[in-house]
Amino acid sequence: METDLAAALDTAWHLLTRGAADRRSPMHTPVVASVTADGAPDARVMVLRAADRATARLRFHTDARSPKCAALDGRPVSVLGYHPGEAVQVRLAGTARIVTDGAEVDAIWSNSTPFARRCYMVEAAPGTPRATAGSGLPTDVEGRKPELFELVPARANFALVMIELTAIDWLHLAQGGHRRAVFSASDGWRGQWRVP
Ligand SMILES: Cc1cc2nc3c(=O)[nH]c(=O)nc-3n(C[C@H](O)[C@H](O)[C@H](O)COP(=O)(O)O)c2cc1C
Repeated sequence: METDLAAALDTAWHLLTRGAADRRSPMHTPVVASVTADGAPDARVMVLRAADRATARLRFHTDARSPKCAALDGRPVSVLGYHPGEAVQVRLAGTARIVTDGAEVDAIWSNSTPFARRCYMVEAAPGTPRATAGSGLPTDVEGRKPELFELVPARANFALVMIELTAIDWLHLAQGGHRRAVFSASDGWRGQWRVP
């Protein structure tokens, strides 16, 4: 049972960094919530690609044409994960930034597998209505690994979603008594216990 704020923050970051590295971790697929320009709440599951405690940043990948990019870029977001094995929920607040250009994006793109990059070959923006069910990929690339030259135009559709965290709400469920602490960048991540 945690009695130490620093240890609680350690567990939150441990779960996030492991979640980014381990595709079997429940923290690998948190929910990223946003608010549309007209104020409507929205949320979706996304794959957590990186979590860096030193910069308090999370990284996700998405299609630059998807509607969520406008809702996320430069705006406040919430990221929500729950690890049932550890009985820990993390509710993260921060500001998102969409990054489409630069050496970092190029390097991440080049290091992704051809199958991962194939997602960005969809011909119309995600969310575009279709007359029939379908993946949106060019039919000749469906069901096979794309060649590297075929992936070149898809690079323009690839975007990083970088989230700079401003607060972490950590909740641990336990029979002996739940524990909750809130940490924020504004107080140097010192944290404060809360009634769960
Ligand atoms: C397990 C899982 C992982 C997903 N990972 C991503 C992801 O990393 N990036 C992404 O853009 N969408 C991902 N999606 C799809 C989104 O949840 C969402 O359906 C899609 O991006 C369209 O969202 P939008 O309309 O808000 O743009 C994932 C969905 C699931 C079920």
